[in-house]
Amino acid sequence: MSHQLSTVITGIGELTTNDPERAEQGGLLGLVHDAAVVVEGTRVAWVGPAAEAPDADVQVDAGGRAVVPGFVDSHSHLVFAGDRSAEFEARMTGQPYTAGGIRTTVARTRAATDEQLTSHVARLVAEMRAQGTTSIEIKSGYGLSVHDEARSLAVARQFTEDTTFLGAHVVPAETTPEDYVDLVTGPMLAAAAPHARWIDVFCEDGAFDVDQARTILAAGSDSGLRGRLHANQLTYGGGVQLACELGLVAVDHCTYLSDADVSALASSGTIATLLPGVEFSTRQPYPDARGLLDAGVRVALASDCNPGSCFTSSMALCIALAVREMRMSPAEALHAATAMGAAALDRDDVGVIAPGKMADLVLLEAPSYVHLAYRPGVPLVAGVWQAGRPVVGPWG
Ligand code: NIG
Ligand code: FE
Repeated sequence: MSHQLSTVITGIGELTTNDPERAEQGGLLGLVHDAAVVVEGTRVAWVGPAAEAPDADVQVDAGGRAVVPGFVDSHSHLVFAGDRSAEFEARMTGQPYTAGGIRTTVARTRAATDEQLTSHVARLVAEMRAQGTTSIEIKSGYGLSVHDEARSLAVARQFTEDTTFLGAHVVPAETTPEDYVDLVTGPMLAAAAPHARWIDVFCEDGAFDVDQARTILAAGSDSGLRGRLHANQLTYGGGVQLACELGLVAVDHCTYLSDADVSALASSGTIATLLPGVEFSTRQPYPDARGLLDAGVRVALASDCNPGSCFTSSMALCIALAVREMRMSPAEALHAATAMGAAALDRDDVGVIAPGKMADLVLLEAPSYVHLAYRPGVPLVAGVWQAGRPVVGPWG
């Protein structure tokens, strides 16, 4: 076996491991102070006190700064073309957000070439990486034809294994809801499935109702795709309870929740993925993260990066909003943006810094992870290792 280059990152003032085995001393984040991490190839090989760190080929001194796991952004819509800043501006002067704006992006996305879509996604993925995001989920949903959904997923697959077929984003202008559900569950699903791991439905007034969502998720499951759902974003509805009934791994948005929805989430174990950038960008009330956590619901945070409801790629912004506006503690918010994002994608190899896990690490220009919320809007990422490779910072 050929020798894999090893790197020791030492002098870490505060290391967030998210390792449950360190919870007794290190709390929810499994914190280790004055720590070191050894990376070998793509994986973490050793974690512990800097004074006990083994030798490695390369030494990096964190200089007392904090290291956290790379963010796991479990909800994004990066495959699109066009700009909707005018819609955002209108919203900020009083217009409400509606599902209908999606059709604007569909027209622009259909008109784009494969190369244009790919280079646009590459730009956004690089933007995310520079801000500490090392794992992403990417949805289709702006093609809405057999050809355009399949190619959107093929583009997304160049950047992640966690691709999601969202043909059921909205009914396109040229067809009826009945015919469109037949298309989504028939030829479109057949063309999309080879490029996707997940299937999603926008279950909302103006998009798809609970019965349609149930039909579409069942067809996806028959084709080997696992379900996730956009639900209760704009109105109280049955989407969250459908997700819990079906035992989906995650249901996303969860802005308008009844007590029965919260109970269903708590007892099913389905993760509520909250997307506070959406409430920020649509001027809606924020979801009740504190109430969810206190009820025992598992909560993740993601960006929902998309051209309509929320065009941020910053997980740090989501953390800051979750802390300031949704009463999550800084530790809960970071955990939700890393370990819980991984859980929402049913991944156990990312979101944690422990031996054997993927070496996805972020060095912060700060002494503590708390600065992610304490210094909102400030670029704090000094270095990123993705699958063991230095991709941000001077170590490449
Ligand atoms: O997650 N809610 C549905 N889809 C996106 C918004 C899509 C758009 O407005 O273009 C979301 O918020
Ligand atoms: Fe979304």
